[in-house]
Amino acid sequence: MADQIRLIQVGAGGMGKGWLRNLAANPDVELVGLADLDLATAEAAAADHGFTGIEIARSLTELLDRTDADALINVTTPDAHRATSEKALDRGLAVLCEKPLAESVAECRSMIDTAAAADRLLMVSQSRRYVRTLYAFERQLAELGRVEQLSCEFFKAPHFGGFRDQMDEPLLIDMAIHQFDLARKLIGAEPVSVRCRSFNPSWSWYAGNAAAEATFEFENGAVFSFVGSWCAPGLETSWNGRWRASTAAGTAIWDGDHEPVAETADGTELAAEVGDEPEGIAGSLAEFVQALRTGSTPQSEARTNINSVAMVEAAVRSSRLDATVSLQPAA
Ligand SMILES: NC(=O)c1ccc[n+]([C@@H]2O[C@H](COP(=O)([O-])OP(=O)(O)OC[C@H]3O[C@@H](n4cnc5c(N)ncnc54)[C@H](O)[C@@H]3O)[C@@H](O)[C@H]2O)c1
Repeated sequence: MADQIRLIQVGAGGMGKGWLRNLAANPDVELVGLADLDLATAEAAAADHGFTGIEIARSLTELLDRTDADALINVTTPDAHRATSEKALDRGLAVLCEKPLAESVAECRSMIDTAAAADRLLMVSQSRRYVRTLYAFERQLAELGRVEQLSCEFFKAPHFGGFRDQMDEPLLIDMAIHQFDLARKLIGAEPVSVRCRSFNPSWSWYAGNAAAEATFEFENGAVFSFVGSWCAPGLETSWNGRWRASTAAGTAIWDGDHEPVAETADGTELAAEVGDEPEGIAGSLAEFVQALRTGSTPQSEARTNINSVAMVEAAVRSSRLDATVSLQPAA
């Protein structure tokens, strides 16, 4: 692969602009094309981020015909993730797709099969895995031993407008995927069942359910409980949520932003070692580049990330059925 990895990006909306800033700041990659259904949005976003002379198009197909790229950054809305990613994989590109990989486990499976047939990497950008204070939390947990009880409180009150306001389950599908995915990382195992109740508070400005409570059991016996809302004004948590992990040796808590705090059973405080790793989408881009260059398997490669989508799907199902739902972990 050439020194710089040649990228095209599809989607130039809110997050697409964040990706353009991210690509502009990374010397390992070169953006050669940008597409959006709204051509004017793509043109303006490219110009605003200093990308002159790149191909601009309305569709991925047009971009693929006009460029010779190594990989696609897929920042379209979730409903377009599968078709967009599969088209690029079929044409021999690796894909870094925004979360959620797709809106259903069935769609994820199709994408994984397409990537396997094309022999190309399909990775998901789970940007909330890349947080320096989270790494410090993980280092404390490594000292404390196996996490058997993990909880996350997530309470925010954003007014987005756009696709989230119309979704049936905006919190579970578009947001809780981050916390469910982090629970897999922190517990270091895959979930086997969930009991969930999602609902919409009377004052909600969302059409669908903006609040939920879910309890997952993991294959190693650990339990993860999530309580959250996207319409909870006042005393909001961080965007990562507020976490607490219990082990036989002690407890660690992380507010999602600042240095975590940990204490052993005898009251000894564990230091928080905060490093200088790349954070957020800069972290996922760095891991994608590393995987393309070395063949390493990224932590959110689609074949394992599907388990995070499965958690969301099973939580939605549990709420609809008013019953515990089993999960069959993949990979
Ligand atoms: N990691 C994070 O923290 C984070 C934060 C926000 C959004 N996201 C994710 O990023 C993705 C995009 O979200 P957003 O907020 O930018 O949405 P958005 O609606 O602001 O932008 C999406 C853009 O994609 C374009 N688009 C949709 N389908 C397309 C297609 N088939 N071909 C070309 N263009 C197409 C739309 O025209 C729009 O401009 C979603 O998957 C979302 O969940 C992630």
